[in-house]
Amino acid sequence: MRVKLLAIILLAFIFGAGLAVLLNPGGVRQWLVGQTSGTALIGGPFSLTDHTGKRVTDKDFRGRLMLVYFGFTYCPDVCPAGLQTIAAALELLGPKARGLTPVFVTVDPERDTPAVLADYLANFNSSIRGLTGSTAEVADMLRAYRVYARKVEDKGSLGAYTFDHSSLIYLMDAEGRYLTHFRYSEPPEALASGLAAHL
Ligand code: NI
Repeated sequence: MRVKLLAIILLAFIFGAGLAVLLNPGGVRQWLVGQTSGTALIGGPFSLTDHTGKRVTDKDFRGRLMLVYFGFTYCPDVCPAGLQTIAAALELLGPKARGLTPVFVTVDPERDTPAVLADYLANFNSSIRGLTGSTAEVADMLRAYRVYARKVEDKGSLGAYTFDHSSLIYLMDAEGRYLTHFRYSEPPEALASGLAAHL
């Protein structure tokens, strides 16, 4: 009898779970992967200035995939490594890379003016667009993309302050919606094939 009762409870549970997936697949997936995900919530409108000094919004990037990376030009190692990975992946993609716009958004608008970004990004790949803006505009963008960035005092040679920041590379679709993300330390070949899957 015990076994039968257990079997009934188990079946009821399985049926309930199945029903939950049918009725709300996204919610169940979110529940399963936990709080750390929330990836569908990444992205949104922004209004910034590009490295040529032109005002741009998220709408200017529609129609092509957008590869978004956050950092700052004073960053000693992580940001340059991420940008090198992106540049190498773009190189590997060749003409296919025209289907996406690579974007580098500064977390340090105070120092990263359009001109500073233009000089810096020229070292990596000429197709990477730099984005900066007022402190409030950049803060809005960071919030929309769930990017962590914290200014910390730094007595080193690079300046009076530096930033602790998250370093994921986001891939957004042609409508500006989140598709997937990559680590900055990804081998360029892996990034290239990950991007090619969406191009
Ligand atoms: Ni960095």
